[in-house]
Amino acid sequence: MKHYKIASIPGDGIGPECMKATQNVLNALTKKIGTFTLDFKEYNAGDEYKAKTGVALPPETIQGVKEADATLFVAVGNTAKEVILPLRQMYNCYANLRPAKAYPGVKAFKPNLDLMIFRENTECLYKMVGYQGDGWGVNLRIITKEASERIARYAFEWGKKNKRKKVTAVHKANVLDLTDNVFLEATRKIASEYPEIKYDEAIVDACAMKLILSPESFDIIVTTNMFGDILSDEAAGLVGGLGMAPSGNIGDKISIFEPVHGSAPDITGKNIANPTATILSAAMMLDWLGEKEAAKKLENAVMEVLKEGKVVTPDLGGKASTDQMAQAVINTI
Ligand code: NAD
Ligand code: IPM
Ligand code: MN
Repeated sequence: MKHYKIASIPGDGIGPECMKATQNVLNALTKKIGTFTLDFKEYNAGDEYKAKTGVALPPETIQGVKEADATLFVAVGNTAKEVILPLRQMYNCYANLRPAKAYPGVKAFKPNLDLMIFRENTECLYKMVGYQGDGWGVNLRIITKEASERIARYAFEWGKKNKRKKVTAVHKANVLDLTDNVFLEATRKIASEYPEIKYDEAIVDACAMKLILSPESFDIIVTTNMFGDILSDEAAGLVGGLGMAPSGNIGDKISIFEPVHGSAPDITGKNIANPTATILSAAMMLDWLGEKEAAKKLENAVMEVLKEGKVVTPDLGGKASTDQMAQAVINTI
């Protein structure tokens, strides 16, 4: 029997609701499979914890993520830049995988979409280097060859492994030439090493439009940090909303899995948050841990519940609570 140490960070808002639902599902899954356990240890972070203690990301949490085999995080609120950004950067979780997949049964704008966004996760405007004066501010956008090549290689390797056809590098080199020519030189160089995968480029504004009109013209998108943040919420909107969008912050040693959505204060405490994004993030975590069969089984169970369409949360047009939807996944498992 294998035992994985999982750091769990529920955070704020709907975080605890989604985390509880997901852990119940995972416990049922591991019990059913019987070959491994997920030993959760919960850690504090976020707005509420900061209000109590003055710190948003305590040292125990930083250490807990380091010691764990993987981390499952849901969301924090206004302190996100003091919590999830430092974690992604300090542990070099450089590849942010953000799939936008439309599942059968979900009333998605684009019911056949299966797009993967690779977002560079350590630099760009997210370095948070800048200056402020009286009535002005500067946020520096830092792009390096090293980080750009690393994310491009990750995207092409994943594309090769998953038999994908095309990678599109999304940029704004027509204006941000100092930075985005560095990014494009890197993506072109890596593309040349993968002749079996088609490579093209799109300027981010036109890409945003095309994602609405003909998203099927994209297969894999690789892009810089801020563009990836915006395009991944847009892509989530094509496949049923943020309640459907999982992600993984992948590093060579340490990885953190989290839904794309935030703490959703507008629906907090009502037990109506869609737990799917967190459950699918957990499936990505299982896959990364090497438990491929378990990951598939979990995704399939979610797919069944969505396809049936009877026990789904209000964002998907249903009447079920967070707990009821999670229970439906458990029953399917
Ligand atoms: P949000 O993602 O929290 O919510 C956007 C909209 O989507 C809301 O209407 C919300 O109700 C809905 N939504 C989100 N998740 C849902 C789910 N699981 N089921 C059903 N509906 C869902 O974005 P926001 O409102 O712009 O931000 C709220 C707070 O979250 C902000 O303080 C922001 O900083 C923070 N945030 C944190 C993270 C993170 O910790 N990784 C990510 C994004 C936003
Ligand atoms: C996300 C979030 C975060 C980001 C914020 C809240 C720091 O929007 O995970 O997409 O911009 O990366
Ligand atoms: Mn975002």
